[in-house]
Amino acid sequence: MVDHGIEVERVVIEATVAAPAHSRWRRPGALACGAVRALVTGGAGFIGSNLVEALVARGDEVAVLDDLSTGFAENVPAGVELVEGDVADAGVVAKAASGCEVVFHLAAHRAVFRSVEHPLQTDRANVAGTLAVLVAARDAGVRRVVASSSSSVYGGAEQLPTPESAPLLPRSPYAVSKLAGEHYCRVFTELFGLETVSLRYFNVYGPRQRPDSQYAAVIPLFIDALRSGRPPEVHGDGRQTRDFTYVADAVAANLRAATAPAERCSGKAYNVAGGAAHSLLDLLGILEGLTGVRAAPLHTDPRAGDVRHTRADISAAKAELGHAPEVSFEEGLARTLEWFAAR
Ligand SMILES: NC(=O)c1ccc[n+]([C@@H]2O[C@H](COP(=O)([O-])OP(=O)(O)OC[C@H]3O[C@@H](n4cnc5c(N)ncnc54)[C@H](O)[C@@H]3O)[C@@H](O)[C@H]2O)c1
Repeated sequence: MVDHGIEVERVVIEATVAAPAHSRWRRPGALACGAVRALVTGGAGFIGSNLVEALVARGDEVAVLDDLSTGFAENVPAGVELVEGDVADAGVVAKAASGCEVVFHLAAHRAVFRSVEHPLQTDRANVAGTLAVLVAARDAGVRRVVASSSSSVYGGAEQLPTPESAPLLPRSPYAVSKLAGEHYCRVFTELFGLETVSLRYFNVYGPRQRPDSQYAAVIPLFIDALRSGRPPEVHGDGRQTRDFTYVADAVAANLRAATAPAERCSGKAYNVAGGAAHSLLDLLGILEGLTGVRAAPLHTDPRAGDVRHTRADISAAKAELGHAPEVSFEEGLARTLEWFAAR
């Protein structure tokens, strides 16, 4: 777990200021056997910072590119270079990607409802941002880009569990931007031979996912409500179901996607999920059991555009990336509660 009081090596790169390529890594020469130099865009955010921690733990040399719009500098472990900049700024991304073997691209405007209010901002960060990453990766000779997509590309699939071959019908500017990112990845593989893998996450949760944003997700909101004695707010009847993914499993999928054989996975998109469906009322029941706090939910109107059920078919990720989730829902929630308690 990251210590929140740590010093962060922080560098602000202006697109116009040249930095010698050899100076950006702490160990300019060879790395330990098997270690890689990786750039993590969005590495100060929830999933990205958990990924950075895992990369550092296995000995990789890591740089983070993040504009800190929803991420936090204190999420970035000591010794990791934090380049504070916009992922849609081609000059900034080109410098950040230089010398990297792998780019994990997570930087994005994440919230669906934010994209409905601010579609142009979402498009710039998510579509122009992904394109800038791909151009920079191609030009810097990066071996592989692992890009974060989303289950929202399905737009509420009728087929459950949903395979990657299900119809893609994005229903928000955010979902459109994620699908555009996937297509750009595939096209860069086909046109330029850049290895790419897109990961369609289903509702990721876990340590460092915060309840205090306008667009917070349901698990941190429920935990925060239970801990502070407020009734958890449930949109609609609470019987809608979600396939929840523990963050360590999303991180493991990224690590697998970076090394799986290119002939199997490059240019493709994979579901990353827990592979089971839980209703919001089930979720609340498990949290009540783990915390010993009982709370009657406050039912509010269903949210426009919310899908009723999600559940992923995760067999392709298993067969082609060698990835399967390992953390049960109860265990993941228990670990998340521990993080809240230690904050
Ligand atoms: N959390 C989920 O359930 C979920 C589900 C599906 C897909 N995803 C995808 O996973 C990725 C990570 O999401 P997260 O939940 O960790 O969200 P997050 O908001 O915690 O992380 C996103 C990070 O990107 C940074 N960022 C945003 N715009 C940027 C820009 N223009 N330039 C540089 N940095 C920028 C933010 O500061 C933040 O640190 C995103 O691509 C998101 O679309 C997440």
